[in-house]
Order: sequence, then C-alpha cells, then structure tokens
Amino acid sequence: MEQYAIKGGTPLVGEVEIGGAKNAALAILAAAIMTDETVTIDNLPDVRDTNVLIQAMESIGVIVERIGRHSVKINAANVNSLVVEDDYIKKIRASYYLLGALLGKYKRAEVALPGGCNIGSRPIDQHIKGFRALGADVRIEHGLIITEAEKLKGNHIYLDVVSVGATINIMMAAAMAEGQTIIENAAKEPHVVDLANFLNSMGCNVKGAGTDVIRIKGVPRLHATEYTIIPDQIEAGTFMFAAAATKGDVTVKNVIPKHLESLTAKLIEIGCEVEESDDAVRVVATKKLTHTHVKTLAYPGFPTDMQPQITVVLGLAEGTSIVTESIFENRFKYVDELTRMGGNVKVEGNTAIIDGVAKYTGASLTAPDLRAGAALVIAALAAEGFSTVDEIQYIGRGYEDFHLKLRELGAQIDKVKTERDFQKFKLKVG
Ligand code: EPZ
Repeated sequence: MEQYAIKGGTPLVGEVEIGGAKNAALAILAAAIMTDETVTIDNLPDVRDTNVLIQAMESIGVIVERIGRHSVKINAANVNSLVVEDDYIKKIRASYYLLGALLGKYKRAEVALPGGCNIGSRPIDQHIKGFRALGADVRIEHGLIITEAEKLKGNHIYLDVVSVGATINIMMAAAMAEGQTIIENAAKEPHVVDLANFLNSMGCNVKGAGTDVIRIKGVPRLHATEYTIIPDQIEAGTFMFAAAATKGDVTVKNVIPKHLESLTAKLIEIGCEVEESDDAVRVVATKKLTHTHVKTLAYPGFPTDMQPQITVVLGLAEGTSIVTESIFENRFKYVDELTRMGGNVKVEGNTAIIDGVAKYTGASLTAPDLRAGAALVIAALAAEGFSTVDEIQYIGRGYEDFHLKLRELGAQIDKVKTERDFQKFKLKVG
C-alpha cells in the first residue's frame, strides 16, 4: 500500500491555493439531481469522496460530464433507479445526501444505512425525524433506509442536535414540498449556506441559511444553473496549522477569511502572526508557541474537523493545553500515534490534556481517519528525522494533491510503495 515518506524539520514557506470545499461539494452534487435540466458546477475538489459520490449518482442514471479537473456538467433527466447501492455508502457516508435529493424530487428513495466510522457512531435519527415531519414514511429494512411519500408537506422541524447532515438532507427534501418548512436549531456551517445558495440558484426559496432558523418555501420545479463551490475552510485550516507546527510562513490563497475566524483567533492566541486580505490569509510562526484551551463546537465555533490539527500543534507549545471534543465521541484515536513521536497527551473521556514537548521525533505512523491522518502528516513535518504514514487513502478522501501542495511549500515528502522506495527517498533528501 502507498504511504507517505517524510523528513521533518523544514519550515513550510510560500503560498498554497485552496480547493473547493469537499463538504459543500457533496451536498451540492446530490442537490444537482433535483432538476431535469443541466447543472454546471465549478471549483469541485478532485478528492475521493466527491468522486465516489459522482459514481453513486452515475449508478442511478445521472449523466455526469467532466469538463475539467474541477468542473462537471450534471443532468438527471433520466434517473433510472431510486436505490443507491451499499458499496457507495460503505465508501462514503455522505451518499446519504441522495436520500434527501431523491425524496424531494421523486418522493421515494432507498439508500443503504451508513455505518459508523472511526470518529464516532454517526446516527441519522434527526434526518429520519425531518423526513417524517414532511410526511414521508421512513423504514429501515435489511440495512436499507426506505423512504417514500404520497406528497411532501412543509412543517416546523426542531432538530434535537445541531446536525450538518440532517440540516442539509431536510433542506433538500423540503425544497419541492408543498408550503413552508422551518428548520430550528439548524447547522450554520459555510457548506450549509453554500447549499442554500445553490438551491436558490436553481429556483428554490431558502432563507436564513447560516442562522439557527432556515425557512424553505417549496417550489414545483427547479431549473438549470451554473455554480462555483466555496473554498474549503478545513483544507485552509490544515495548511495554516501546518505553518504553525513547522515554524513557517504560509499564505493560503483563494479562501474566505470569515470562514477561518475561529482558526485565526486560536493561532494568534498561541503566538502566531496572522495577516488577512480579501481572499488570502498569511500565518507566520517564528516565535515559540504557547498553550491554550479549545473546545470544538458547531460553526462558528472551533471546528471538530480541525481538532487533530490543533492538538498536534499544541503538543509542541509551551505549557499545558486542553482540547475538548464536544461533537464526536471517538476522535482522539490518533493520540497514541503522537505518543510514539514523543508527544505528551493524556485523553480522559472527550478531553485531551496536552503537555507541550520541545520536539517530536519521526516514527512509522498510521492514519486512523481523514483529518487525523492530515494531522499526523503535520506532526511528521515538524518532527526531527524520518517518518512514514500508512493508510493515506483516508487523507485522499478530503485533500487534493496533499503531498504535492506540501512539497511546493518546501516539505520533504513523497509517496512511496516499498521499503526500497523509502530508502531511496532517504538517500535523495539526505
Ligand atoms: C459533517 O458530518 C461533516 N461531513 C463532518 O466532516 C463534520 O465533522 C461534521 O459535519 C461536523 O461538522 C460532511 O459534511 C460530509 P453532524 P455529519 O450530523 O453531518 C450527531 C470530514 O472530516 N447527530 O453535524 O455526519 C452526531 O452524532 C467529516 O470532512 C445525531 O445525533 O455531522 C454528532 O455528534 C468528518 N443524529 C453531531 O450530531 C443525527 O441524525 C454532529 O454531527 C445526526 C447527527
């Protein structure tokens, strides 16, 4: 299996272009099937999750024409099945966005029940609650979620937890329902707003996205649109924290600084200099970093998808830091790997107590999931000596050309397949 070979110790310096937001793209790709006309989507990230969702769409008869690495034309006039097979769900749980899109458009859908994953149990009770509130029958049989409705009627839905997925799925199911739907306690993430803007560009009537209360007035049909996906705040944040870990000077370009505010605030708190411009943020980390406390929260709080990355950085900061993971119940698995690099992190329940150390030392590491995998790469880039990172297919789920972008910033990193390749890498970088 391919792995990353890394020689740590080089500060990351330079500029990096940030791609389209994976978690906005997944919702928008699914929603694109709600019209029979052709939809063009630009700034699509070329990552495994979006590519698998496109395969799932093609498996039910959606025509997807690639017009460039980051652009597609989608036409769902000839959807020939409302059943999304399990192998797509097994690969990415976000295939369940097709539930909301198919139910909203065809009043019926069957999608395999997504399993848990490495960061927690990932229930979907709020999605089901929303579909039922709109008048759909929802049952789970033989591992499939089967939902259908004579008609969908708007309703007032209170989410019991702030859920990105449930907010997105219910928004799509309500888009063509009769009357108005109100979603209370809605998720406010930038990708929720991006989906609302996309749906409105197809003729929907969605108001309030980005606040706790989203109002959707159902419309009879949706039309063609051309839409550009927002930049990925988590990819941007990952490079910003990589700059902090390696005492570098990195500018992330093609970003929306407002989406990065909680990240910028923490970087400044721990001693980085941060300069913002219209569509770029520069992080300079030449001073010794200091400790802080952080708790992951729904947007605009500090994102859970940046929790591993900040923990890795705080592991090198002076003093004791505390990181509390309030969204998922099993998102500290990577800490054992950090310990093997000399990190001093103690996990108690959903809290990590981090005593900063002077340095990490290179080790052979295994990525447990997407964001923790990226965080371990950051740790290896900061470490003294050589590291390898296994299971990097997790990282490819959400980061396009991750090691190439890092190399552009001066990182000594390569993809290797065999021990011999690794030895060659070691000789090459010296
Ligand atoms: C989305 O997952 C993202 N995935 C995750 O990013 C991200 O970590 C998460 O939102 C939080 O921001 C995509 O957008 C594809 P949730 P999602 O529903 O929608 C509970 C990545 O790295 N909950 O907001 O599954 C749930 O257990 C991925 O790109 C219910 O109880 O997250 C969790 O505790 C990892 N019932 C909390 O809500 C439900 O029906 C937030 O989950 C749904 C969720």
